[in-house]
Amino acid sequence: MFPPGFVWGAATASYQIEGATRADGRSPSIWDTFSHTPGRTHNGDNGDVACDHYRRLDEDLDLLAALGVGSYRFSVAWPRVQPDGKGPANPAGLDFYRRLVGGLRDRGIAPTATLYHWDLPQALEDAGGWVARDTAERFAEYAAVVGEALGDGVERWITVNEPWCSSFHGYGNGLHAPGRTDTGAAVAAVHHLLLGHGQALAALRAGGARSVGITLNLVPVRPASGHEADAAAARRMDGYANRMFLDPLLRGRYPSDMAAAFSSARPGLGVVQPGDLEVIGQPLDFLGVNYYSPAIVADPSRLDEARRAGLVPSERQAERVAAELGVARVVRAGSDRTAMDWEIEPSGLTDLLVGLARDYPVPPVYVTENGAAFCDYVDPDGRVQDPARVEYLDGHLRAVAQAIGEGVEVRGYFCWSLLDNFEWAYGFAKRFGLVWVDYATGARIPKSSFSWYRDVIAANGLA
Ligand code: NOJ
Repeated sequence: MFPPGFVWGAATASYQIEGATRADGRSPSIWDTFSHTPGRTHNGDNGDVACDHYRRLDEDLDLLAALGVGSYRFSVAWPRVQPDGKGPANPAGLDFYRRLVGGLRDRGIAPTATLYHWDLPQALEDAGGWVARDTAERFAEYAAVVGEALGDGVERWITVNEPWCSSFHGYGNGLHAPGRTDTGAAVAAVHHLLLGHGQALAALRAGGARSVGITLNLVPVRPASGHEADAAAARRMDGYANRMFLDPLLRGRYPSDMAAAFSSARPGLGVVQPGDLEVIGQPLDFLGVNYYSPAIVADPSRLDEARRAGLVPSERQAERVAAELGVARVVRAGSDRTAMDWEIEPSGLTDLLVGLARDYPVPPVYVTENGAAFCDYVDPDGRVQDPARVEYLDGHLRAVAQAIGEGVEVRGYFCWSLLDNFEWAYGFAKRFGLVWVDYATGARIPKSSFSWYRDVIAANGLA
């Protein structure tokens, strides 16, 4: 069902698991600031300790070895490496990632390193963050520093994780750090994140990196009905969530309908300079795709019709940029959802992968994240049984196999996540791990999904 050499992996990100936010010269990131601001995260949760991974590195490496993954996707915390966001590297910060990469290699696991998984040094945010062009330049410098330090040890590099979240949630919807609500700033951030990606990719390649890509969170979009107004809302959503990133990366231009939709948002795409799109559109070695759930959308004027058809407004309505664009998200009443209230639809992943290969000149693809939060608990025997997660992963792996069968070059799959961790604005309330983490003690308990996934990996596929 899966080709020989298919890469089986698990993923995490620095701020979500490491803790030790003041150790060894690390400076605050925008997520330290944001999570320590009252009202920004569920329960006021923050990443000060998180999974204490920084101190439990060896234990977590052993868990990865027991799982049998071929690759581990982690992220490097920029504020550990360059506490001021620029200038000379902090040797103690780099040393942690050297130990991580070495520990993976010792266990026969190929490191997949993400350079930016949202923890921008606060010093750079104070200088304008991703709205400022300088941040892209700084990011390329940081990429060169990490590339040189970790060098050959890293098998593949992901420049930026989910630039849609960093730009639109960070600067447009205010749901993520730094918590701004300014569409023009968000659109400028899109451009600078993509520019930073392109410059970082060039810097990594110049340093000898062999495989460099970017990870996007892509969404198959469905109109709530056959009505033209809903179809138009679906096109807007597809532009906002997918084409705004795919088009510059793979076609070398921003989609004209989105440029028009954001034309009055300043500075917006007014920050684009000659030559930028060539930098952004450099060939990728691979595209990373994160998939969790599809989007059903309606034109806001048709919500009553949608309700009559059994669709209810989704919680994700809270997105102010989508509202500005005239997009209303709905979900099927009573549909299967995860603890995030995200609809479970494995076929969305097949549609997404097949559609990508049909519509774009795509490089090989890795599913760099897929997984689910459920209401897990430790039973009286001290075990965590999570059949719903097993069913979710099973369905989505079949969806990947289906896409491969239809000719899409999918080279690997990374489960989100190895560990329960800090789920951003949701704090520790949402558990995505294959491994339960007791946040009071730091103890780890592999869930039943862990042994299930271990067997899938060992068999290179599903029974
Ligand atoms: C996307 C992000 O990359 C990751 O940090 C997050 O925890 C998962 N999806 C689940 O929401």
